[in-house]
Amino acid sequence: MFDLTTIRKDFPILSRKVNGKPLVYLDNAATSQKPQQVIDCIVDYYSNYNANIHRGVHALSQEATDKYEAARKKIQQHFGIAKAQEVIITSGTTHSINIVANGFSSLLTPGDEIIVSQLEHHSNIVPWQMLCKRTGAVLKVIPMNQAGGLEMDAYQSLLSSKTKLVFVNHISNTLGTINPIAFMTEKAHEVGAAILIDGAQSCSHIKPDLVALDCDFYVTSAHKMCGPTGVGMLYGKEAWLEKLPPYQGGGEMIDQVTFEQTTYAGLPHKFEAGTPNVCGGIAFGAAIDYLNSIGFDSIAAHEAELLSYATEKLLAIEGLKIYGTSKEKTSVISFNINGIHAYDIGTIVDKLGIAVRTGQHCTQPIMDYFNISGTVRASFAFYNSLEEIDVLAAAVERAKMMLS
Ligand code: ALA
Repeated sequence: MFDLTTIRKDFPILSRKVNGKPLVYLDNAATSQKPQQVIDCIVDYYSNYNANIHRGVHALSQEATDKYEAARKKIQQHFGIAKAQEVIITSGTTHSINIVANGFSSLLTPGDEIIVSQLEHHSNIVPWQMLCKRTGAVLKVIPMNQAGGLEMDAYQSLLSSKTKLVFVNHISNTLGTINPIAFMTEKAHEVGAAILIDGAQSCSHIKPDLVALDCDFYVTSAHKMCGPTGVGMLYGKEAWLEKLPPYQGGGEMIDQVTFEQTTYAGLPHKFEAGTPNVCGGIAFGAAIDYLNSIGFDSIAAHEAELLSYATEKLLAIEGLKIYGTSKEKTSVISFNINGIHAYDIGTIVDKLGIAVRTGQHCTQPIMDYFNISGTVRASFAFYNSLEEIDVLAAAVERAKMMLS
């Protein structure tokens, strides 16, 4: 049973005020709020069993190691991953992407091609540009369309035997578009290319089954999924992770070290140099438990209702245009009002207690495509209510009156 009143009580921050008004938090694509269950997990770790892991024989170290490895198992099971060693716990999506981009440096030769999409976040563009500079590989871009979807015919014509890696987000952070990743994976594999999918924006809405999907790499961040910042996941098929060299050198990722030569540890430790974010990893597991206790079917149903209600309410405001109208879309609405700067709307609604993001959302190519400098973005989570959307619509209407 999806009981919104009970769910909202799990999130202490939702009962605070901002600028004297009840907080209406609609910046969930930037980061999600944290339920008490995750906060308690963090407090419990630091209060009762804080220790370094995989290193000590003492009881605390054992306890922390067991809980950390149990969290890895939870991540593995949640994402339908075949083996626990295919789960690398990282500091977040950007770190995960950079591990793969760095690894491919030794696999590419000049003239090889990497395909990205026009819908990517800057963190999904820059590491590949850097990789191309290092290797002489060429970056190709799948174009987007007016609805905010990707042109699949163009994608298929970009693919060739030169393609070594395809990189695409599962869901656009700016427009909410859900990309056809199963189809894209199949097509990439037909030409022998690997595919890496950025799940930073998807995993709070959808529970992907990675073995069924058959992608080669999938990355995400815990903080978008009710977990803490500074922790995330790199999933890679074992054969790929074996092939890629380590990203960072340090403790934990080694087997034998002499001044003449070092051999590396096996998976997953080869990619986990240094003391990890022990507490973060364990709390990532607690966040996964929490989301599963709500249930992804219930989350999807409630968010679909929020999206359709908010779309209707906002479109009723004269002069308001929504960017991103793909049929396959999650609960993210980017919009502008004729002649009014997005930043000004964001500032006024903030005074009314509403948190939205304004600007380019780290996706300048999308802004360039629509020939705009930015948008206001309201992004909804399963703990948002229809009443909060009423508050948003009234505040946007008010901002419009003040600024026209
Ligand atoms: N990538 C995050 C966002 O879209 C920060 O807001």
